[in-house]
Formats: sequence, C-alpha cells, structure tokens
Amino acid sequence: MGDAKRSSAWYSGVDNLPHRVYLRAVGFTDADFGKPLTAVVAAWSEAGPCNYHVLRLADYVKDGVREGGGAPLTVPTIVVNDGINMGTEGMRYSLISRELIADTIEAQVNSHGFDGWIGVGGCDKTQPGIIMAMVRLNMPSVYLYGGTGEGGYLGERQLTVEDAFEAVGAYIAGKIGEEELRLIEELSFPTYGTCQGLFTANTMAIIAEALGVSLLGSASPPATSSRRARYAVESGRALMRAMELGIRPRDVVTYDALYNAMVTLMATAGSTNAILHLLAIAHEAGVELTLEDFDRVSRKVPVIAALRPAGPFTMVDLDRAGGAPAILRKLKSAGLLREDALTVTGEPIGKELDRYSVPAVSGGPIYDVSSPYKPHAGIRILWGNLAPEGAVLKVGAADVCRFRGEALAFDSEAEAFEAVKRGAVRPGNVVVIRYVGPKGAPGMPEMLKITAAIVGAGLGSEVALVTDGRFSGATRGLMVGHVSPEAAVGGPIALVEDGDTILIDCEGGTITIDVDRSVLEERRSRWSPKPVEHRGLLGKYARLVSQASRGAVTSGPY
Ligand code: FES
Repeated sequence: MGDAKRSSAWYSGVDNLPHRVYLRAVGFTDADFGKPLTAVVAAWSEAGPCNYHVLRLADYVKDGVREGGGAPLTVPTIVVNDGINMGTEGMRYSLISRELIADTIEAQVNSHGFDGWIGVGGCDKTQPGIIMAMVRLNMPSVYLYGGTGEGGYLGERQLTVEDAFEAVGAYIAGKIGEEELRLIEELSFPTYGTCQGLFTANTMAIIAEALGVSLLGSASPPATSSRRARYAVESGRALMRAMELGIRPRDVVTYDALYNAMVTLMATAGSTNAILHLLAIAHEAGVELTLEDFDRVSRKVPVIAALRPAGPFTMVDLDRAGGAPAILRKLKSAGLLREDALTVTGEPIGKELDRYSVPAVSGGPIYDVSSPYKPHAGIRILWGNLAPEGAVLKVGAADVCRFRGEALAFDSEAEAFEAVKRGAVRPGNVVVIRYVGPKGAPGMPEMLKITAAIVGAGLGSEVALVTDGRFSGATRGLMVGHVSPEAAVGGPIALVEDGDTILIDCEGGTITIDVDRSVLEERRSRWSPKPVEHRGLLGKYARLVSQASRGAVTSGPY
C-alpha cells in the first residue's frame, strides 16, 4: 500500500511522533509502523454464549493478518444478547444495538487511522452491524462469524433454545411436567456459540457467505470446532489480500450480491430479521432494495433446507452436509444465483463455488431445487389495508397459509403473554400486538416469548399473531411481523379493535382487516399518538429511526 496508507497520516513523520508513542506503549516497533494498520473488531461479551469466545478468535485473526504483512490491533464493539433479554424491557435494545455496533466501528476505525479491518461477530445484531459498517466505511474489510452452539440431547431428542422457550408454554398448558421442564433448562444449550438452529444468527452467517463478505464455508463450523481457528487465520490473510488488491465492500455488496442473499434467505426459510438487515445493509451500500424485491424473489424460490424452526436439523447438521456452500451450489445449479457477484477474495462467487468441494451426504438437511423440502419460499411479503407499506410472514415455519380470525388487540407483549397464560387466547383468534414497532417500543422488540407460548400451548395452527414488532429466528407458527406503518405513527394496526375480522393469505400476499372504511375513518378521528417519553438512547433512536419497511435505519438519507 506504500505511502498511500491512511495510517501514514496518523503515524509517520516528526509531527506524528506523539501518536507513535501511544502505539509503542502497546508494543509497536519501528517495523510495525511501516505495515498496514489493521483493526480486528471483536464483538465480544461474556454475557451469554454467542460471543463468549470472540476475543480468542480475534487472536487467530491477528496471526493471519501478521502472516499477510499487517500490524493488527484488537478493538471492541458491543453485544446485546437477544435470548437473555427476550420478553423483557431489555429487548428494546436489541435492534438498537445493530446501529450502535455500526456507529462504534465507524468511530473506532476512523478515529485511529486504520487501513483495513475485520469484524468478528456472533449474536444476531453483531453481524448486520458489522456488515453495515463494512459498506458504510467502504474500506478493505472482511466479516468472520464466531460459530454456532451445539444442540443438547434429552434422550434421543435433540434440543435447542427453541425447545427451552416452547417448554414454558407447554408447561403452562400442562403438556409437560416439572421434571421435563428442568431437564430442558439444563440440557438445551451445552456449549458456547450462537443459538443452534437456523435462527437469526445462523441465518445472517449463511447470508454473509452468499453476500460475499465472508469466506466460503466459514458460517457452519461450530464455535467449539478447531476449524474456527483455521477460518480466523484464513480470514486475516484474506483481508490482507483484499487490501493489496484494493477490494472494497461496495465492490462486493452490489444488487447482484443482495439478490443472492435474498435467494438464499428464501431457500433456507431463514429468519425474518434478515429482511430488516438486508434493507439496512443495502441502504448503507447505496443500493436500492425494497420489499418488492423480496416479494419477487419469494415467488420463484422453494425451501431446500430442512433447518429448525422450519425443519428438524441444526446448524451442526448443516455443517456435516457441507455448510452454506452446499446450499449455494444447489441454487447455482438451478440457475438461481447471480454467479458474477464478486466476493472479498476478488473472485466471483460462481467460480469460488466451483472450487469448493462438498461432501456427498444423503438424508441430511439439504434438498434439490427440483424436489424441494417445501414448494414455496420461506418468507412471504404481505400488503393490504392492515399493512399498506408491507409486512412479513415466515411461511416456511407455519402449518397453515390462509387464516381468517377474530382480533384480540394488545398494546404490549406482556399483556398478550398474560392472556395466553390465563387461557384467554382461543382457537380462531388473531393476537394483535401493536405500539412495539421501531419508534413505538422503541426498538421493535422480538416476540419469541409470546410466539413460543402460543406454539407451546398447542395453538400454533389455530391462532395467528400480527404485530408491528418483529420475531426471533426461532419463532414458528402463523406469525406476521414488521407491519408498516407501525401503530406509533398512526398505521392502521392502531385502529384494530377486539372482535374485528382479520384475513391473512400468504398465497395472495395479503393481510386485510374486514372492517368498513367509514368505520376505520371514524376510529382514526378518535386516535391520537401515545406519548413517548424516553431519555438517552431510546429517545434518540425513536426520533431517528425509519419504518421497518425501510430497514429501521437511523443513518442517512444518503
Ligand atoms: Fe445470541 Fe441467539 S441469543 S444467537
């Protein structure tokens, strides 16, 4: 990189002698100052298993950076653990943390004169936060995933955290006893790493490969596998090659790469959160991407991965079957991928996939596109008079596709959860939870506690849920989220009253409230916004954030 290195402006010459003093104090030598200054951004935290080991992985990344001729320094960004704050006030900070992570990385990388960087993530929001920062800063960078946790076993039954959440509903409904409840608590998460199914973290890790910002094959090895260390070293080396070649994230994250990510999301029945994150990544990359794009892709891609919650397999099972490249190769063979999209290696994804060898596994989680696991895509986009700007439905994890039911409206998840507990939610109900959108909550909390309670109580096929909040990747059942506009800004979901008829049709792509327009207008004339008074971060976020249909972003417009 020679003198064109940005770090030269921070650390070379007499004027910058004091700056060098600070890095000499942490071990830098004369030789280090001539090398590309490289940040290893560690989304590390001991508060939960997902990012528990990330500092150790960062050390391996530094080995790779050194081998490639760089001078690495580890810097932190934050982690908010989604599983621990599920159903609590803390969940409001989950999506907010995505923005904080991107902003923190911008500050870390730009304030210290780094020439390139690599982000190491794990839990749900650390991944899109890192990728958003990659395209925002548009300087050489690579993403490395920390890896999945392993499933536990209760006898022959494989457990994940999804079982732990659903066990609560099953216990309340009297379907399991105290002993089974206790065993599920003890056995469902035996290692560090992220939640074990194709929930949001593993969805985003697979998508990072499809986007081309991570090395192929790096998503699926478990957090505890020695292959993680190898991918960490390789990712460090790959970053140094990207710096030499001058490959920048916006060369990689083009519309074609985002298209590949959408295809992969639909084909895996991944987490609905990925829609928010891809919209936000596209926004930061300056690429036009809308819910209409997701809708078009969803109409031509079937589900070819039988991963939890849509199927029975975990991320470790996918790893044994070849990981994300095995899925991507099936999609490529069916002509569903845009093969010329560049990756961080400087090679197009099609060529990378041709070189990648995948084990022959039968009876595993991956199906052919011509004989798919499910004939339709994993997620559908819905529009209608209840969601004029769109809503999302994870149809891949639902048993029914059309539903007509009677609304039971709540202004918080806690009220709805209490209603499930006391048996007030009955077959045929559509549970509506509003004022939990990006501005309303604020922070658009996930609803796994209530959705798991509904499924755990055996009501998954008989009760639907509609919300301007969002869902965990572990959510299953007929659950419609991201309803836009949200109630806090006067979206029609604010006008729903108990007893209204709501229709959900995933084939038609519609969500409607069967109430006369004049009645809705009369209700609107009586509606006024709820006062939102939040200090600090929550208040700042509520003032800045866009609607879910635009990715719930706080930066820009660009
Ligand atoms: Fe972190 Fe599930 S709580 S990945």
